[in-house]
Amino acid sequence: MSSIAAGCDHGGFLLKNLLIDYLTEQSHQVIDLGTHSLERVDYPDYAEAVARLVAAGEVDFGLLVCGSGIGVCIAANKIQGIRAATVYDVTSAHLSREHNDANIICLGERLTGPEVAKEAVDVFLQSNFQDGRHAARIKKIDDLR
Ligand code: RB5
Repeated sequence: MSSIAAGCDHGGFLLKNLLIDYLTEQSHQVIDLGTHSLERVDYPDYAEAVARLVAAGEVDFGLLVCGSGIGVCIAANKIQGIRAATVYDVTSAHLSREHNDANIICLGERLTGPEVAKEAVDVFLQSNFQDGRHAARIKKIDDLR
């Protein structure tokens, strides 16, 4: 089982809650960093909160949801050590772990339906980084300033 920090803006509120319930049912440990209502908020605030916990090693993974999954991803990737990936389906979820060692999965509530989102999160948590030829590329990403 994994520990996961979850966050969203108003555009991802419903999907974030649905995924937290889904993950909790599977005995994953989820820390909900908000937002906690449909009131309009700024997604970088929630992306940063989740990314800081992941970067500090306080949780295994992050889950971020906004309308498109793009804004939270851009913001989270500003934090050193974060490899956030916007995922649209099972294949992108799988590849983001195996090739990119992604540590935050980002989803768009307006683009990805709940059933696909649940499957994508499952696959993200179950897939492992393949290392090998990918490791040097991840090091190059880590070294970028
Ligand atoms: C909010 O309207 C929307 O811009 C946000 O949820 C996200 O899609 C940004 O990338």
